[in-house]
Amino acid sequence: LSTVRVDLSGMERGQRITVNWQGKPVFVWRRAQEAIDIARATPLDALVDQTDSAKENPNHPQTEPALDQNRTADEAGEWLIVIGICTHLGCVPVGQGSGDALGEFGGWFCPCHGSHYDTSGRIRKGPAPRNLDIPRYTLADDLMLTIG
Ligand code: FES
Repeated sequence: LSTVRVDLSGMERGQRITVNWQGKPVFVWRRAQEAIDIARATPLDALVDQTDSAKENPNHPQTEPALDQNRTADEAGEWLIVIGICTHLGCVPVGQGSGDALGEFGGWFCPCHGSHYDTSGRIRKGPAPRNLDIPRYTLADDLMLTIG
């Protein structure tokens, strides 16, 4: 199936789940306010990869600055949905399980060669060249997520 539908209405603030979409792990995170604030306070020039093209975030028609507000599903930034594949050589970063290492920037950590992603899924340290990609999706008012 090219699209997957998931009801997110039961998720709590701070919770992360992984959804399988076309054989890829998609990380869904209902971020707590602290994670949102950290992501939104990060200046663009602190980022390794400062833009997201329309291929990297197909929810936007053109290249956008990799600001957190361009990467979240909702304006308030509660919902971050990214493809859980490290942009270095394709390992699945850790951070989705309770007790997982989150890396130095609170998002995800790729143990294969040590890439650290922030609370917006942006690469901040290590060999990965690009921010985590974002899948095409819609998130309806009733929190039904459709990926693809
Ligand atoms: Fe993630 Fe190399 S595959 S750091």
